[in-house]
Amino acid sequence: IFIFGEQVEETYIMVKPDGVQRGLVGEIISRFERKGFKLTGLKLFQCPQELAEEHYKDLKSKPFFPKLIEYITSGPVICMAWEGVGVVASARKLIGSTNPLQAEPGTIRGDLAVQTGRNVVHGSDSPENGKREIALWFKEGELCQWIPAQAPWLT
Ligand code: TYD
Repeated sequence: IFIFGEQVEETYIMVKPDGVQRGLVGEIISRFERKGFKLTGLKLFQCPQELAEEHYKDLKSKPFFPKLIEYITSGPVICMAWEGVGVVASARKLIGSTNPLQAEPGTIRGDLAVQTGRNVVHGSDSPENGKREIALWFKEGELCQWIPAQAPWLT
């Protein structure tokens, strides 16, 4: 799908367990809504170990991998699929750097987090990974296509 000649992308955004525990779910969803992206999938979900390992399989050899899996499976997460022109890179900007101490103020991590190992939110790093991760975290029938009545140009 194209809007004004630009390809619509999809990205997987996840509020990590610390974000849920700290009551930041609404705040984080708001930032993507206000930017003007379209939510096409949303659920609260307890991630099983195997899914966490598949999601982060590129990091399997890293020393922090076991702690990362422990963290992601430590409590429920909020899984989201978002759509829009440029949504993958824009969401990464809204989220900020991996290390929250290096993330700019105004970004989610820059405003709301301190530790890399507790950085409250995930966002896909490429359109390919956006598709891969949405397919991994959502079942068929859990996603919803719709046209925003107030902003039909967003679809
Ligand atoms: P990465 O994909 O590099 O970052 P991002 O989430 O910004 O795309 O790493 C995935 C997650 O792994 C990261 O959000 C937090 C965790 N992590 C650590 O715990 N320690 C580290 O040194 C790094 C680089 C990441």
